[in-house]
Amino acid sequence: MEAMGAMMGGPPKKQLYPQLMELPAMTPEARSRIDADARDRINTGNAALVQAYDDYHRAMTNNDIAAMSAAVTRQRAALAELESGTAGLRALAEGEAPRQIGLTWFRDQMNLAPAGMSPEGPVGPFGLSWFHFISMTAVALFALAMAAMAARRHRRSIALVNRLTSAPAAALRPVGQPVPAPPPAPWRTAELTSPPPIAPLKSSTWSGAMHVTAIHRETPHVKTFRLVAPEGARIPFTFVPGQFLTFSATVDGKTIRRSYSIASPPTRTSYVEITVKREDDGEFSRYLHDTVSVGDALQVRGPSGAFTFDGGNADSIVLIAGGVGITPMMCVIRYLTDMTWPGEIFLVCAVRNTEEFIFREELEYLQRRWPKLHVAAAVAARSEGTAWMGLEGQLSKDAVVHAVPGIERRRIHLCGPPPMMDAIRRVLAELGVPPDQIKTEAFGPAMGLVPPPRPSPPPPPPASVTQLLQRVEADTVPPSGLPEGEAGPATATLLFARSGKAAPLPPDKTVLEVAEAIGVPIDYSCRVGTCGICKTKLLAGQVTMEVQDALTDEDKASGTILACQARSLGNVTVDA
Ligand SMILES: Cc1cc2nc3c(=O)[nH]c(=O)nc-3n(C[C@H](O)[C@H](O)[C@H](O)COP(=O)(O)OP(=O)(O)OC[C@H]3O[C@@H](n4cnc5c(N)ncnc54)[C@H](O)[C@@H]3O)c2cc1C
Ligand code: FES
Repeated sequence: MEAMGAMMGGPPKKQLYPQLMELPAMTPEARSRIDADARDRINTGNAALVQAYDDYHRAMTNNDIAAMSAAVTRQRAALAELESGTAGLRALAEGEAPRQIGLTWFRDQMNLAPAGMSPEGPVGPFGLSWFHFISMTAVALFALAMAAMAARRHRRSIALVNRLTSAPAAALRPVGQPVPAPPPAPWRTAELTSPPPIAPLKSSTWSGAMHVTAIHRETPHVKTFRLVAPEGARIPFTFVPGQFLTFSATVDGKTIRRSYSIASPPTRTSYVEITVKREDDGEFSRYLHDTVSVGDALQVRGPSGAFTFDGGNADSIVLIAGGVGITPMMCVIRYLTDMTWPGEIFLVCAVRNTEEFIFREELEYLQRRWPKLHVAAAVAARSEGTAWMGLEGQLSKDAVVHAVPGIERRRIHLCGPPPMMDAIRRVLAELGVPPDQIKTEAFGPAMGLVPPPRPSPPPPPPASVTQLLQRVEADTVPPSGLPEGEAGPATATLLFARSGKAAPLPPDKTVLEVAEAIGVPIDYSCRVGTCGICKTKLLAGQVTMEVQDALTDEDKASGTILACQARSLGNVTVDA
């Protein structure tokens, strides 16, 4: 009503009922104002009602339904106006209690009919309209149905409990005793002492071309190369963390091969990554850094190597790395954290300077996420303009003891430059770590470690070999390709049975070097006894090998040797 007044341009009328509730405390002036207001409402309501009534009839004659509906709405408004005016006059005349006036106002606001009347029509049972009665009955029936269902469920629960409690006594826990702890989920408990149920990984050898899809610079001298199979979403082989791939390429007309550890974990099956340090005089690392770009294909063979750890063979692991020797360690760390391995992982690294700390950011990130990954790094020198709050100087015995509590009972993997590896080996020996707990991998030549070969009496060669040897002795030629004066006096003869070639074997040359000199093909990669690419069968004689890391127990039992390491003072026959 007030809104309508406003729309017509007049001032909005003040609500009458709220004023009436204050009636008992009103002054005579206020009461006469209300009297005038009430009469005004009766007059305007009456006029509006007559007008709306006429409008309704006219609309009905014209069969104008919309206008009829609008007229009905105006009649209702006019009636409300009449009603409020009348209530005001009554209150003034009869002194109606404020509570009754408030009730009438509330009914007016909520559009409720007076008691005993229903706006929906005739009154039904219990004084309710039929609509209310039917709705309430439906709600009551629904509530009864829900209660019945709940009671049924309760009965079934009791029956189930009775069945369970009638089970054999041994399966029951006496009342009052604490609930026994469930068997620990091995990868969730901190106190685990046994390895988790990680399925052992297998490696499957493969050779072919892989494509470079991304190259990322890790440090000023180190780049990571991401490789994918030319076809298919998965890499074409499986591997164990710590293994490496052997790459071959023709550089300046010469085929060269080098091995690189897989730095990405086996859990990422769509690519492999290698992280390579550029050696200033290095043929292959310079080729990778300076020539290879995204989209190029690289010839790959592998995986190979026994410097592996998949979490199944110890309950904690210590990874000690120097420089780029961190790559196989990173594969292990990435794999174990991807697998939520429960054991403690200790990474101790020796870094030349802060700039050359490979994977530093990723290690910081992983360390924040995995409380059981402990990283300690010793930086030989801090690069200008960089921050370092860790150890400075060489990796000392104290630093190792501090970084790895109880190191003497843990499995240790060690990889880095030969001098650093030698120093750490000595530290570990002083700390009482049994040698068979230490696994190593050398990336480069073991400088100064080659002792003279142990002389061994050669066994009598088979008859056919004897004939060959006689021919060699009659027509001895020093193997071409060996620098003159460098080859020691040949005390023995090396026979390549498959190629039918023979040559003197000086004590300071390896089987591989002699084979290369006379053109007998033997594959190789690392030349330091770790990759196993040069494995060859020893058919007769005895050899010494400084490093045999790539040989398994079966290899040794079957007479397999590493051509890059094998030397002898006696006659030798190999299957090449
Ligand atoms: C199993 C295995 C895994 C390897 N994984 C990685 C890896 O993940 N990342 C990586 O960068 N390298 C790795 N290497 C070393 C890599 O195979 C090459 O030896 C290295 O890249 C150098 O090759 P090059 O052809 O550039 O140098 P070369 O032409 O062979 O040598 C050039 C010069 O560099 C010196 N040199 C060669 N290798 C080293 C070395 N490692 N340290 C110091 N001086 C050296 C040589 O004495 C020579 O003076 C791994 C080696 C092995 C055996
Ligand atoms: S070439 Fe790698 S072990 Fe001999």
